[in-house]
Amino acid sequence: MKIVTIIGARPQIIKAAALSRAIKDHYADRIQEVIVHTGQHYDDNMSQVFFDELGIPHPDYNLHVGSASHGVQTAKMIEGIEQILMDEKPDCMVLYGDTNSTLAGAVAASKIHVPVVHIEAGLRSFNKSMPEEINRIVCDHCSALLFTPTRAGFENLAREGFSIDNVGPYDIDNPKVYHCGDIMYDNSLHFSSIADQKVSLLKQLGLEGKPYVLATLHRDSNTDSPERLNAILDAFKELSKEITVVLPMHPRTRKKATGFHADNIIVTEPVSFLEMIQMEKHAQLVLTDSGGVQKESYFFKKPCVILRPETEWVEIVETGAATLADADKEKILEASHHYLQQPPINFPEVFGDGHAAEFMLEKMLTSL
Ligand code: UD1
Ligand code: UDP
Repeated sequence: MKIVTIIGARPQIIKAAALSRAIKDHYADRIQEVIVHTGQHYDDNMSQVFFDELGIPHPDYNLHVGSASHGVQTAKMIEGIEQILMDEKPDCMVLYGDTNSTLAGAVAASKIHVPVVHIEAGLRSFNKSMPEEINRIVCDHCSALLFTPTRAGFENLAREGFSIDNVGPYDIDNPKVYHCGDIMYDNSLHFSSIADQKVSLLKQLGLEGKPYVLATLHRDSNTDSPERLNAILDAFKELSKEITVVLPMHPRTRKKATGFHADNIIVTEPVSFLEMIQMEKHAQLVLTDSGGVQKESYFFKKPCVILRPETEWVEIVETGAATLADADKEKILEASHHYLQQPPINFPEVFGDGHAAEFMLEKMLTSL
C-alpha cells in the first residue's frame, strides 16, 4: 500500500513521527509512505528540529508555501498537493488534525478520488470562529477512514450523521469511524524517558529541581486581540511574582508581544519536542491554549489551565485535571492558585493504550 502523508505545522510533524515509526517497525514490507511537507511552518525550530530529533524520514516533497492569508496559503497547498497525488497515485492520503495543511489535503484528495484517512477525527469546539473548526469539519466529511482519539470525538461524528455500523469497503460515501486512542499518547510514552536522557534544557535554564509553571500561547483568537493578549500576559506577570514562569514563544506570539518581559518569566524561542516533554514532566502546572500541550499535561499528570473559552479535549476538564479560564486574568490566577495548592490526583486513561498508530495502519491495510 502506498500512502501519501501531509504535514505542515509543528504538531503534525510530531504526530507523523508515531506513524512513521510504526511503519518502520512493523509494516515496512507492506506500506510505503511518501511524506509531503507543505512548508506551512518553516523556521528551523518549528520544523527541521523535529526531523532531526524524532527520526522522521526526510520529506519526499516540500511545497514551501510559507505564511500567507488563509485563502492564499490553502490555495497554494491544494495546487501543489493535487499535482503530487496525480504523479504518485497513492492508495490513500493520511491527514492529521485541523490546520490549513489538513484542509488543503482533504480538498485536493477528495476531488480526485484519493481516499482520505483522517487522524484526530471528530473533535469539535462548537466554535466556528476558529479556523481549525472549519478545517476539521471539512476534513471529516471528505474522509473514508476516520480515527477518533477520544470517545467524545466518536460521539460527535455519530451526532453529525456518520453511520457507525457501515460495512466495507469504505469510501467517502461509506466512511468508517474507528475510536482508537490518541497518536500523541503513543509519542509521549515513547519519548518520555528518552527526553530526560537526551536533553538538558532545565539545567540550562537553571530550573533543575526548582518549581516552575510552563506556559504556551499561540491561538489566533488570543494573539490577534490586544485585549485578550494583554489579559493573559498580565496573568503570567502576576503569577511570576510567586513562581517562575517559562514561556517558549510561538513566532505568531513573538510578533504581537514585542517587548514583553518580566523578572521571573523566562521567555525562550520555540523548543524541541524532547525539551518540551522534559519541561512538561517537571512543571508544577501548565498554562496553555495549545491543543497538544493540554493533552500532554494530562499524559504527564500535570494540572492545566486552558487559556480558551472551550476545548475539544473535554475529558481532561471533566476529570478535574484541567480548567477553562479563557483570557480572563482573574480566572487564570484563581485556577492556577487552586492547582498549585491542591494538585489533582486522578488522571483516568482516556487516550488509549499507546498503540494507536499500529491500530490505524492495520485498519488502513484491511479496510480500504
Ligand atoms: C497553525 C495552525 C494551528 C496550529 C498551529 C500549531 C492553521 C489555520 N493554524 O497556526 O491550528 O495550532 O499552527 O503551531 O493552520 N510563523 C513564523 N515561522 C514559522 C511559522 C509561522 O514566523 O515557521 C509566523 C508567521 O508570521 C505566520 C504566523 O506565524 O504568519 C502564523 O503561522 P500559521 O502557520 O499561519 O498559523 P499558526 O498560528 O502557526
Ligand atoms: N511543542 C514543541 N515546542 C514548543 C511548543 C510546543 O515541541 O516550543 C510541541 C508540544 O509538545 C506539542 C505540539 O508542539 O506536541 C503542540 O503544537 P502547538 O502548540 O504548536 O499546536 P496545537 O497542538 O495547538 O495545534
